[in-house]
Amino acid sequence: MKKTSDIGVVGLAVMGENLILNMASKGFTVTAYNRSYNKVENFINGRAAGKSIRGADSIENLVASLETPRKIMLMVKSGQPVDDFIEQLIPHLSKGDIIIDGGNSQFEDSNRRTKSLAAQGLLYVGSGVSGGEEGALLGPSIMPGGAKEAWPHLKPIFQAISAKVADENGDLTVPCCDWVGSDGSGHFVKMVHNGIEYGDMQLICEAYILMRDLLGMSGDEMQAVFADWNTTDLSSYLIEITADILAYKEDGQPLVESILDTAGQKGTGKWTGVTALHLGVPLTLIGEAVFARCLSAIKDERVQASSVLAGPKPTFTGDKAAFLESLKQALLASKIVSYAQGYAVMREAAKEYDWELDYGAIALMWRGGCIIRSVFLDNIKTAFDTDPELSNLLLDDYFNKVVSGTQTGWREVVATATLQGVSVPCLSSALSYYDGYRTANSPANLLQAQRDYFGAHTYERKDKARGEFFHTNWTGRGGNTSSTTYDV
Ligand code: 6PG
Repeated sequence: MKKTSDIGVVGLAVMGENLILNMASKGFTVTAYNRSYNKVENFINGRAAGKSIRGADSIENLVASLETPRKIMLMVKSGQPVDDFIEQLIPHLSKGDIIIDGGNSQFEDSNRRTKSLAAQGLLYVGSGVSGGEEGALLGPSIMPGGAKEAWPHLKPIFQAISAKVADENGDLTVPCCDWVGSDGSGHFVKMVHNGIEYGDMQLICEAYILMRDLLGMSGDEMQAVFADWNTTDLSSYLIEITADILAYKEDGQPLVESILDTAGQKGTGKWTGVTALHLGVPLTLIGEAVFARCLSAIKDERVQASSVLAGPKPTFTGDKAAFLESLKQALLASKIVSYAQGYAVMREAAKEYDWELDYGAIALMWRGGCIIRSVFLDNIKTAFDTDPELSNLLLDDYFNKVVSGTQTGWREVVATATLQGVSVPCLSSALSYYDGYRTANSPANLLQAQRDYFGAHTYERKDKARGEFFHTNWTGRGGNTSSTTYDV
């Protein structure tokens, strides 16, 4: 083993351990540290035995074991634990040393930490890491951002351990890891990834519930459909694991049907929604996906309501195969809307925080290794490579054509689900967004009139220049004084 380690990793939960093993398998020497030393000992004597991994029993020894500039990656719980470890590390570090946070941290925290560490001469990198435990071990998608001077030192390690996708010759050489941008942009992109993950998962769940409750399909029948979809434009990790899950049996019965229908969430989907609200970007599908989890969580209330509230009992009399084809189209179109909305959030954030995001490169980082990996991301990369200023993915020729081609099926699915009383919040909100986005004349003129009527909030006119505001004394009782105009 080399005398000094290439990198240190703090935190020996499953993601930390697997990343270390991944680094060692690529020829790097790693020092492992954990707050409780017995975890380090167990790891060194267990999974790490015989590999280029050493343990440290203190922060001092961790730092002393590293070559300079020191690179220390935190794989600890987001929030206060990250700040606590940073505080413990600082006294032992020298100018130019690098701290990387590989957890699911809030991007505002990474903005703050990048600035405060820079003021102390240290380089901070907030890095999204996606792919779960298997990804961490075999090749995750990695989204680093922060102090760019750190990148040349991290690049050889991060790109070596990341997932790889095929180059133009079909060889797996293109790393799903690149520099994202300054401050907390790496964690921002990871947050949007997770929001999209919530949307993709909920869309799949809506397809599943329509198959199960409307079409009356068995687990094996549904498995076959998802496995088939995985050979089409929908091919993705989440569709693939859905087929596997539906096929999994316990005592001869599909295990999934024994799992309680209350979804958990750690919060990254909610952060994406809240951020979109702050930025004023309509992120309706991910918002609905988060709320669908919240609705699922009030199981007892739903059970009670199910015997009180009236509605149709789903019954299907049409052509099942044709409906399944429409469902596939609805899923694809809604997924395109979801990515269009997610990318719109990134565009707005880039403006707000002065980040230079490369949207094609982000699609490539998500192409392999991460939870939302799919073939579809190739088309997103092409769309942004063709027009880096593309304001909405729906306006790209390819996606425009796909969505137009799927419309009939998409509308049929949403209409049928609505008539049959099956809740499909993401499929339907995606369609509603699509129709809203392509509406040149929305009803917001009436809304502005209402605001002006009750609160003298003023309005702009279609027959006057933008930026000129008017107030009408609608009732003859109000005065001519208008309130100030401002937009949040
Ligand atoms: C990933 C995942 C991961 C996320 C889990 C759980 O990219 O590997 O996004 O970071 O934490 O999927 O998320 P929820 O508990 O919020 O569903």
